[in-house]
This record gives sequence, structure tokens and C-alpha cells, in this order.
Amino acid sequence: MKASDLRIKYMGFFADRGHAVMKSAPLVPENDPTVLFTTAGMHPLVPYLSGQAHPLGKRLVNCQKCIRTVDIDEVGDEVHLTFFEMLGNWSLGDYFKKEALEFSYEFLTSEKWLGISIEKLAVTVFAGDGDAPFDAEAFGIWKALGINEKRIAKRPKKDNWWGPAGQTGPCGPDTEVFYWTGDGLAPADFNPEDPRWVEIWNNVFMQYSKNAEGGFEILCQKNVDTGMGLERVTAVLQGKKTCYETELFTPLLLRLSELSGSQTEAKTEKSRRIIADHMRAATFMIADGIIPGNVDQGYVLRRLIRRSIREGKKLSIGDPFTHLMAETVIDNYGQFYLELEREKNTIIAELKKEEEQFGKTIEKGMREFEKTIAKIPAHVTNRVLGGRNAFYLYETYGFPIELTEEMASENGFKVDRKGFEESFLKHQELSRKGAEQKFKGGLADNSEATTRLHTATHLLHAALRKVLGEHATQKGSNINEERLRFDFSHSEKMTPEQIREVESIVNDAIRANLRMTCEEMSVEEAKKSGAIGLFIDKYGEKVKVYNIEGFSREICGGPHVEDTGVLGKFRILKEESSSQGVRRIKAVLE
Ligand code: ALA
Repeated sequence: MKASDLRIKYMGFFADRGHAVMKSAPLVPENDPTVLFTTAGMHPLVPYLSGQAHPLGKRLVNCQKCIRTVDIDEVGDEVHLTFFEMLGNWSLGDYFKKEALEFSYEFLTSEKWLGISIEKLAVTVFAGDGDAPFDAEAFGIWKALGINEKRIAKRPKKDNWWGPAGQTGPCGPDTEVFYWTGDGLAPADFNPEDPRWVEIWNNVFMQYSKNAEGGFEILCQKNVDTGMGLERVTAVLQGKKTCYETELFTPLLLRLSELSGSQTEAKTEKSRRIIADHMRAATFMIADGIIPGNVDQGYVLRRLIRRSIREGKKLSIGDPFTHLMAETVIDNYGQFYLELEREKNTIIAELKKEEEQFGKTIEKGMREFEKTIAKIPAHVTNRVLGGRNAFYLYETYGFPIELTEEMASENGFKVDRKGFEESFLKHQELSRKGAEQKFKGGLADNSEATTRLHTATHLLHAALRKVLGEHATQKGSNINEERLRFDFSHSEKMTPEQIREVESIVNDAIRANLRMTCEEMSVEEAKKSGAIGLFIDKYGEKVKVYNIEGFSREICGGPHVEDTGVLGKFRILKEESSSQGVRRIKAVLE
């Protein structure tokens, strides 16, 4: 079965069973400043898992674009990917374990759907601990569906509990379905550690919320959150050893062979896979508005592109090629993800620009690196490249630290990462704590401070448009408990007078204690009613429009305060360039 058929079947199956089909949310979480990327289908649904009514109802299904960065270094092996698509279905306080597992079982085994023989399936369930009991219910349901007890493994929280690691928010026990990929019949006894058993689907029963103290509170509703990795399931259904052998990747690998003129030698396999994975991720990231940069999402994108360029050198690709890879990604995925075609010019332009920029320095940087390591005597056993050297490569030649680490490790060296960070922090105004927290991943906080800053962002947006003109529209935002950051279209630096004027308009609106209300409507209606905001791929779906009486009307997921009077005093800390034609404001409420 082709991946495109799997997407259609999955969504068709759940649509037939009353699930509303949602578009994939963007890769950058819209209202979650604590993570850089959407890492699972449930991510954009957190407010609804916690009880807020979803505009499309209680049963949802989609195919979500995801990025996970924790395993970037592992990419190139059989299983790790940076970008992947996750098929998922949700019950928001509607059906629970019995129906969820019956759906899963029917979809997997029915001839009408995937038609997998039950002989090839096994499952795991949560074994229970001090926080929550053994999931006897899931165990019983699987058994009643015909899964032999020997094929139902009980596992601890480490394996069968899903929720954002170490973070607060919705979570719960899960039950995972495994598929036998080995030769011959699957053994009667199921050992989840045997790599020939591959996990294909996860059903999470989200009925708890982890609080800040690490305790588990019962959620106000019982939810189901499931996730099926499209690439992995496509591979196993096609009997392929890795997803790189499926049509999701083969056109990319073929293109690389053409570009490098080399045959598909085992020696170059890893480089080719890294490029294919990274360029797929980079193409989708740029389509969602990320551009290469030195912080946050832009930095991850830059790392992916620059690592691909270096791997390209290993394949002896001389000319700029990343934009050509992107073209293949767009050809391959454009029909399903319309944003790729729509943003094609930007994608190609950004990649060309980044490759041109890095292309100028990479050779010199590599020579510098070689010179530096040559100075470290061969007899030294603990061979470490100094942090200052690594920072020099970063600062002067644009080598992301991870790339330097990779080059070092290929030469039997380590990098003094701490020393690098010290040099870095000396040079950059970067809050280390903030960056670390973001890289760890997690979920949005709906704290009062953040909520107030959300509302202040709407006031700021409206004020900017009053002072600078209608063109000053939102390009991005990022809010945490301490400050808001707002990117908007405007090509010149704001004057001190303009900044003061914006501040005083916002502060007047706060003092006027304006009422904030929220209505739900379709995007078309929202636009007609004069609402502004990021209209990303939500056509046909209902959205929330937040109205600040007589002041602003904006599409937004919330949360917001009810009256602007609670905000305090608004102050702009900084106005700077974010990228070509985009300015960035950092502001606080005091
Ligand atoms: N959120 C669950 C996962 O990512 C389904 O596995």
C-alpha cells in the first residue's frame, strides 16, 4: 500500500465513524511558546484535551506534520527521522478505551482496511504503579478482540505512559500495537524488546494531568489520543526494512544519485539518508514560515541545511543542490500539502541564499578545523577541541556547534561544549535557561502572566497598525511568562517617537479597561468581519475571533483575559530587525 492510500484510508475510516477531518496544524505551535515544533498530533489539541470545546466536535482525525529534534544525530540509521507524519484520531471526552481499541483493531485487521493478519500483531499495556493502576480494561478488551494473552505484554510507565516528558499537562497510560517484521511466523510469546517487533500505533488514554509538583490529577474528561507514524507503517506494510526504501524517500535518494553521479553505494548510504531526511524537514519548515537563523526554529533549520551541505560534499556534489532536493520534496508531497506549492518560490530562494552563504565559508572552515586538530598532539589520549576554537568556527565560518561536534567525532575528538557555550554566552544576549527549556520540549503554560501577555500582543498588533499602517501585520509571535515577542511586516526601523506612540496607545487601551469577548466562526466569516491574524490553512474550519471592544478583532486560539484593565503597564524593551522586511518587538507588562 502506498503512503498516499494509507493517509486516505485512515482518515476515511475515522470519518465514517463520525470523526471530523482536520488539516495538519503548522509545524510551529501557534500558541505554545515552550516548544519549538509540533511533535505529535495531540500537541495543537492540548486546550481541548483539558476540557475546552473544540469547534469541530468531540471526534477528530488528521495527518499531522511533526518535527522531533532530539534524535537528529541518529538520523541516517534505519529508524530515526526529523520530520514525520503522524496519523491520529481523538476522542475529546467522547468514546474511551473500548471503542478506541475496537476501531484500531478493525482498521488494522479488516480486509476492507489494512487487512493485517492477527498472527502478526501483539500489544503492550500499562502494568500499573503507585500513580495509576494496571490497565486491566485495555488488557481485557484486546483479549476479547482475539489477541492471545501471550501477545499482551504489561510494561511500566517508562514504556507505556504518554505525556510530554517531565512536563505538565494531559497524559495517561497507553497501549501500543506491534507488528512482526521478521521472517516466518511470529513467535507465540511476545517480547517487545525484540527489534523484529515494530511499534506501529499508540493509543493513549488521557485521563490525567501532570501538575507542577509531578502529581497526577484526574482530568475533567477522558480522552483518547492516538498516533500512527505514517513512514514506519508504510514501510512495514510494504515489507521494506526501512522507510528510506518506500516512495516517501526513493525519489529523493534517486535525485541525489543523479546529482552526485555516484551509484547507490553502501558507503554513501548514510549521507544520502541524512540529506533526504533533512531536506524533507527543511522544505516543510520553510513552507511554514521558518527561515534560517541563529536562534530557535531558525537555528534548527540552519543546522539541517548546513549539515546537508556538508554531507553533500562527502558525495562530491559541487554545485548548490539543496533547492533541487526541495523541488523533489515539493513534487512528492505538493498534492497533499498545498502550502508547499504555494511557498515554492520562498523555499527555493531561502535554500539558495543559505547555501550560497555557507558555501562561501565551508571550505575555509573545514581547513581551519583540520589545522586546529592537527595542532593537538596525536599521543594525547583524551582529545578535545577547545570551546573557543569551536566558537571561532561558529562565529567566523557559520559552523553550527553540532556540525563541529560531528566532524570532531569523525576524527576521534570531543568538543569542549561547555567552553563553547561560555564563549557563546559572552557574545550573545541569549538566555541559556530559556533556550534549554525550549529544546527540551513540552507544552504551553496557561499561566496568568502568559495569558496577560497574549492579550497585550493583540493590543500591540492593533496599535502597530494604527501607527505604522495596515501593512504591519503579524508574522509570528512567541510568548512566555516573562515577555512577549512579536514579529511583523515593516521594512524600516521604528523611530523612538513611533515606539512611544505604540506604547501609549496600548497603555490607553489598558487603562480604558476594555472588554474582551470571543466568538467562533468560519475563517471566511472571520475575514469578512474584519478580523486580522494568521490565516493558516484553516479554511472551512471554525476559528475563534477575539474582540477587544472598539480596538481589535483577531483570530486566535487564546487564552485571553476578560478585561484589559488587569494587564498593568506595557513597555517595549526592544525593536529590531528579524529578517528582510520583518521587524521584531520584545515587550513586557510591569
Ligand atoms: N501522542 C501519542 C504519541 O505521540 C499518540 O505517541
